[in-house]
Amino acid sequence: MTGVTLSRYLVEQQRNDPQITHDLRLLIENIATACKSIGVAIGKGAIAGVLGGAGTDNVQGEAQKKLDVLSNDLLIRSKQANGTLAAMASEEMDEIYHIPPEYPRGDYLLLFDPLDGSSNIDVNISVGTIFSVLRRQAGPGRAPTVDEFLQPGTEQLVAGYAVYGPSTLLVLTLGKGVDCFTLDRELGEFVLTHPQMRIPEDTKEFAINMSNQRFWEPAVQRYVEELLMGASGPREKDFNMRWVASMVADVHRILTRGGIFMYPLDSKTRDQGGKLRLMYEANPMAFLVEQAGGAATTGRARIMEVTPEKLHQRVPVVLGSKSEVERVTRYHHE
Ligand code: AHG
Ligand code: MN
Ligand code: MN
Repeated sequence: MTGVTLSRYLVEQQRNDPQITHDLRLLIENIATACKSIGVAIGKGAIAGVLGGAGTDNVQGEAQKKLDVLSNDLLIRSKQANGTLAAMASEEMDEIYHIPPEYPRGDYLLLFDPLDGSSNIDVNISVGTIFSVLRRQAGPGRAPTVDEFLQPGTEQLVAGYAVYGPSTLLVLTLGKGVDCFTLDRELGEFVLTHPQMRIPEDTKEFAINMSNQRFWEPAVQRYVEELLMGASGPREKDFNMRWVASMVADVHRILTRGGIFMYPLDSKTRDQGGKLRLMYEANPMAFLVEQAGGAATTGRARIMEVTPEKLHQRVPVVLGSKSEVERVTRYHHE
């Protein structure tokens, strides 16, 4: 199927899989369109005056960038009218977003991190959009509540991300492997370029913010220490380190050539449960990584089996090449 457009790909998926309804297909196409618009805004950068801070804070107390707010608005506006969604939730909104009464309500719930890696915008390093789609549990009559969003990651129907880098890519799972599309800027279409991505089981590359080392728990201390000892330590091989500080870019590298990504629990973030958000960062990435043959845990348990308690809940994240993730998880239990 390499070379087919996203639209054609989705038509085929709908034909072959009863889970992929007309509405779900429309929703995914719509998300892709919003990502194209976000990509255009990011591409224009300073010319369009979109760089820099918005002067506001989000619910997590983080300073919002203009592009955080713009991307959030683009995703909301492009999706509220299409009739596929019951409600949306985002990193940049305290409460869930209800579909305005003038539009029809659909069966699906959409969660997103409109712009991931926002600290990288102003320095022209890759950023992205992460999303996750759930089915509504309650009947269509009632207005959706936040509780309906609190489903474990195993319930995700679709997850994906766009990465705005040298190329704009869309990486998608519908629960049958992971396919990657590249935006053909002349055609304005996403084209399938990397079908059925697989994460190599073994790796020599790791990603962690080393500046937090003194705050880590003993299991992570031990694991990273062994990596740093390289060929002369117990691992008997040298490891290389990468940290983009945009989870999308780090995860994309891992989907492409393997590796392990960690934002573990540490004494700085212990009270809030971790750094990354479960519902719109950890869960969709865990779904993608597992679908590509990798693993994703909190260090202790499978991320997708965590029972969510809050919309903006945070979790520790360890994901990537299976054998490395299993080792880190084992160290936590030892
Ligand atoms: P966001 O920009 O959506 O708030 O997410 C940033 C996240 C993630 O993308 C990245 O891996 C991590 O924060 C970077 O954290 P450090 O600044 O601690 O490196
Ligand atoms: Mn993020
Ligand atoms: Mn974000």
